[in-house]
Amino acid sequence: MASLRVLSRSQFRASAPCFSRGSLRFYASAKPQTLKERLAELIPKEIENVKAIKAEHGKKAFGQVTVDQVYGGMRGLPALLWDGSVLDAEEGIRFRGKTIPECQALLPKAPGGSEPLPEGLFWLLLTGEVPTEAQAKSLSEDWAARATLPEFVEEIIDRCPPTLHPMSQFSMAVTALNHDSAFAKAYQEGISKKEYWGPTFEDSMDLIAKLPNIAGRIYRNVFGSGKLPAIDKTKDYSYNLANLLGFGDKEAFVELLRLYITIHSDHEGGNVSAHTGKLVGSALSDPFLAFGASLNGLAGPLHGLANQEVLLWLMKMKSQVGENPSDEKVKEYIWSTLNSGQVVPGYGHAVLRKTDPRYTAQREFAQKHLPDDPMFKLVGKIYNIAPDVLLEAGKAKNPWPNVDAHSGVLLTYYGLTQMQFYTVLFGVSRAFGVAAQLIWDRALGAPLERPKSYSSEAIKKMFANK
Ligand SMILES: CC(C)(COP(=O)(O)OP(=O)(O)OC[C@H]1O[C@@H](n2cnc3c(N)ncnc32)[C@H](O)[C@@H]1OP(=O)(O)O)[C@@H](O)C(=O)NCCC(=O)NCCS
Repeated sequence: MASLRVLSRSQFRASAPCFSRGSLRFYASAKPQTLKERLAELIPKEIENVKAIKAEHGKKAFGQVTVDQVYGGMRGLPALLWDGSVLDAEEGIRFRGKTIPECQALLPKAPGGSEPLPEGLFWLLLTGEVPTEAQAKSLSEDWAARATLPEFVEEIIDRCPPTLHPMSQFSMAVTALNHDSAFAKAYQEGISKKEYWGPTFEDSMDLIAKLPNIAGRIYRNVFGSGKLPAIDKTKDYSYNLANLLGFGDKEAFVELLRLYITIHSDHEGGNVSAHTGKLVGSALSDPFLAFGASLNGLAGPLHGLANQEVLLWLMKMKSQVGENPSDEKVKEYIWSTLNSGQVVPGYGHAVLRKTDPRYTAQREFAQKHLPDDPMFKLVGKIYNIAPDVLLEAGKAKNPWPNVDAHSGVLLTYYGLTQMQFYTVLFGVSRAFGVAAQLIWDRALGAPLERPKSYSSEAIKKMFANK
């Protein structure tokens, strides 16, 4: 039965007016507008919007840049345009203005599910609009249809020794997808600048679509868990990812992946993986090359690898103090980590100054699905103790937990115990945010990134006697 929905006239390509009430028009639609069609409508408006912002505010200053910022990893330096999400230090992430709980409430769900579909989140990141269920479903179908890997990419993965870290295998496979890049081909053929976003969109869709097969293949090769099943074209992205990993029969795990991908997708533009993708893309490297570079940044222990580090740290803690330790024992263990010159993984953040709402969303998931799990209880105990210890130690600007403090315990609960694989799942998710911005960067004609660097000698000279 055709559904009735309230639409702007432009939102439908093949729609026949049915009836109107007040200023609202109702359309019975045969086919929902595709994401690419909607983007094609939005891009000219956004180009005008950016032109107007530049005309009115282009010469205004954000503030001063200090020498400390140059030496200090550019913390707080306003330097990048990123539309998909904005991170507030106190409140956490908003995807196109929507908090995580708002996304959980508003985005389409799978039949019988209660977590948002990442398909809907991708639509939101790209357009700023919440898609209909039919539009989210059309993305599931599109991605399923694009999911097959070229044979040589399968061979590259199969030739990797199982001792090679899954993230290295992941980045290699993603980089190799550039063999079939629509953008690289179109560029060689002399595509006009105005058309860049079209093949970038196609590559980005292919990239996202192929990640489950890459991740599943790496997982099964490294951890020896049998042959990959085929993609089920009737199911959503997260189901297929779970199934390729061997967990398709665990509905709660599939729900976890829907939430996991949604909350890990984007965290504004300055973090290492997002910024790297944008930077490399600015050289007009195609989305596979750009996102391959993102993955190499995500593989660092201060960034995405922290989810692996957290679980290692928890396991070590458990082996030293037992599964149900006293508060005193947990405190001692945290101090011993700090005193040996290591960071407490999963705590602290370069921007956030409160508990990460991505941590809270996972905690709420655990409270609903695994309230009695001993490792979840241990994570909860650490949450009560670690911030005070970090405050007392006096170095970390943010003593609160981040996203990585919780994810591993949830995955472990469902049987995905191989912590070296956790950052791969983060990588699958991060593609959504990076790809969305790559498409907008090419649509808006973002130039090559080229900030200015200084030597210490030059800095000394510049400020001598000032
Ligand atoms: C995320 C992180 C890299 C942010 O770094 P940052 O912006 O430089 O953080 P700060 O400004 O608070 O760092 C100030 C000092 O506190 C230390 N610090 C920050 N977080 C810490 C933590 N969790 N444990 C111990 N020390 C920490 C820093 O190492 C730094 O020490 P230094 O002055 O000796 O170099 C940092 O908090 C960290 O290493 N956390 C653990 C790893 C992690 O969870 N990463 C995932 C992030 S989503």
